[in-house]
Amino acid sequence: MIDLVLTGGTVVTEGGEARADVAIDGGRIVAVGLAETMPAAREQVDVAGHHLLPGAIDVHVHFREPGYTHKEDWGTGTAAAAMGGVTTVFEMPNTNPPTRSVAELREKRAAARKARVDFGLYGLLAEDNIGELEALAAAGVNAFKCFMGNTFGNLPSPSTGAMLEGFEIAAKTGLRISLHAETASIMAWRQERLEAAGIDHPLAHVAARPEIVAIEAVGRAAVLAEWTGARVHVLHISSAGELRPLAEAKARGVDITGETCPCYLFLTTADYDRLGSVIRVNPPVREAKDADAIWDALQSGLVDMIATDHAPHTPEEKINPVIWKADCGFPGVETQMPLMLTEVAKGRMSLSQYVKMSAGNPARAFGLWPRKGRIGVGADADIAVVDMGRRETIAAERLHSRARITPFEGRETIGAPVHTLVRGTFVQRDRTLVPGLEGHGRQVTDIQQMAQPAPRHVEESLEYLLAEARAA
Ligand code: DOR
Ligand code: ZN
Repeated sequence: MIDLVLTGGTVVTEGGEARADVAIDGGRIVAVGLAETMPAAREQVDVAGHHLLPGAIDVHVHFREPGYTHKEDWGTGTAAAAMGGVTTVFEMPNTNPPTRSVAELREKRAAARKARVDFGLYGLLAEDNIGELEALAAAGVNAFKCFMGNTFGNLPSPSTGAMLEGFEIAAKTGLRISLHAETASIMAWRQERLEAAGIDHPLAHVAARPEIVAIEAVGRAAVLAEWTGARVHVLHISSAGELRPLAEAKARGVDITGETCPCYLFLTTADYDRLGSVIRVNPPVREAKDADAIWDALQSGLVDMIATDHAPHTPEEKINPVIWKADCGFPGVETQMPLMLTEVAKGRMSLSQYVKMSAGNPARAFGLWPRKGRIGVGADADIAVVDMGRRETIAAERLHSRARITPFEGRETIGAPVHTLVRGTFVQRDRTLVPGLEGHGRQVTDIQQMAQPAPRHVEESLEYLLAEARAA
């Protein structure tokens, strides 16, 4: 007798769609196929008419705990994830304190005990914690985060020298480094000039962070990754321009992946008047030509995945007539799937394309494949049961994030996850959060399998010589 069978649904894989039942036992998928081949189960749930997608894997969320729990905490953040069909999140280190040492990682892990969905934890890669990176890897961070440009938390960006040594160390661990790829010095210079001239309207934010900051940062980081053999991931791709250094690096064989977020696909400079400071995010929302180019790159696979940069702030922190005083970012983990499914409903892409960018590719890039990111025998039963006909209107007051503000307010969506399962347990059922599941989420460290690391230029590596000197 197994635990559960989901009957009558349509299973979506990267290769296509098929009517099939899904059998689940001990949190894993044990069979996918015709109803008559399913083992006997303690529970059967009829999902006829619905699509079964692998739960989304969002490798870019900020859950704010410890330190900023008036914005979000692990309970509210993972409630929003569960409601949004997201079954695994990777959480960022710009909390207070930042996740930059083993002691601080333990503190983050303690906060994450409230998680309802599975999670990975980022360790910071910064100027002042180069000596901690190996210990962080050994203690179980799932990836590193490097802020090349400053943003919420005001963590200073490392010098290129420190970055290079950090990349050498990360290369030896095999863990991927996710990059906030905007060049700090250009932005600081421009914002100071704009502020000094008294320019403080919302579009000035774009002038302070023009696409050249992303082009320069992606190009530089890709060169450092190439030379060291570090694996890198470009977070929140916002511009047409940065697609070129990304494509060139991939063509050279650099282990580099890229993500974009819904705001760069669905919003443009035409929305700044209407949304005011609510739209402020780093990097900024840019022009329609950028959104068009990113859509093309997402569909061609140059941009590997969709993530959200879920960055909650309160309405008071977001709304300010002086753009420089508004906090950057907004919640997104709950709205990504309905927004993207709407494009599927309109015929822009297939569900198979969507599950590749929302689940399969993030699982592969961060070492969770084949255990996560797919519906198939042996995988974790992380499933978003989706009603492709369901129409909803996004409203901040109905979101589960503590941050009750969104630039997508009033937007109509078609298609929504009506149930979310994490390792076979319903964390969301019938569009309602299932109570009592704080603590169900587990860190993915024991299932994560990064391919063998392949550091390069070892003889010239600072890290190599320092390690030798330590050993002598
Ligand atoms: O707008 C942003 N907000 N961009 C980031 O990179 C960080 C985030 C935050 O933590 O608020
Ligand atoms: Zn972020």
